[in-house]
Amino acid sequence: MSNTTTIKTWVEDHVGVIQLNRPKVLNALNRQMVSEILETMEAWDRDDDVAAMIVTGNSKVFAAGADIAEMAEDDSISLELLNQFTEWDRLAWVKKPIIAAVNGYCLGGAFELALSCDLMVAAENAQFGFPEINLGVMPGAGGTVRLTKLMGRAKALEWLWTGDYMTAEFAKENGVVNRTVAPELVFEEAMKLARKIANQAPLSVRMIKEAVNKSVDHSIYDAMQFERKNFYMLFSSEDQKEGMRAFVEKRNPQFKGK
Ligand code: CAA
Repeated sequence: MSNTTTIKTWVEDHVGVIQLNRPKVLNALNRQMVSEILETMEAWDRDDDVAAMIVTGNSKVFAAGADIAEMAEDDSISLELLNQFTEWDRLAWVKKPIIAAVNGYCLGGAFELALSCDLMVAAENAQFGFPEINLGVMPGAGGTVRLTKLMGRAKALEWLWTGDYMTAEFAKENGVVNRTVAPELVFEEAMKLARKIANQAPLSVRMIKEAVNKSVDHSIYDAMQFERKNFYMLFSSEDQKEGMRAFVEKRNPQFKGK
């Protein structure tokens, strides 16, 4: 277990866990926390002992958004010079799977963080929303884009304009959340999913993530060319030989991620 001032981290069963840890301010994401999340994820992305990651909060709150106190006196030039969103961009380059395990509020920048993960497991009573409108601003770390891509223009506009919170059930029905479970089971369910993925052939997991991400932002033709390239690439791996031989020999494969 490792503690910084903003997050706790540990690895269990080849799953790296990041727990947001500023409970006094409902885990509000300050800049230091975002940096520490990214540094940890990038280190685990290079660590053979970690095959999947989980980002979670505590049993009451995932996080109540970006730290409002920290940015209250910012102006557009200071934000431009700070260029903080390039840190968020790095999240898209993390190659291993990331699961958000969400209890309680998941708002603003925290919703953007969860939407930047690959999968989401949420408590049945979790609440998601973009309350930035109530502060006279708007999401700036991909919220308008990701929400619109997931649920379409009219629904996204309604949530972004009203600042209302959506239920976990609505989020699941609209492709935001993969699974909803009882609040006390969120972490366990996320671990179950992470362990399952962590046991799959690592290179396949990686190439699938890349190909699916391409399909979100590119034409069907371009995304399919990319998919094909990744498919061919996997045939250079030892794991492809092992996986297919194991099938033929009727035994379980032993994948090495090579
Ligand atoms: N930033 C900084 N501090 C926050 C915070 C935030 N986003 N959210 C909560 N806190 C602090 C509160 O100021 C309070 O601190 P004190 O005890 O020192 O007063 C503490 O956390 C507990 O909060 P509340 O007393 O407000 O708790 P509550 O249970 O009554 O309400 C809540 C919970 C509805 C989530 C409410 O805290 C709230 O509305 N928070 C702000 C949510 C928000 O607007 N998020 C978007 C931020 S902007 C953003 O994220 C922009 C971006 O994309 C970059």
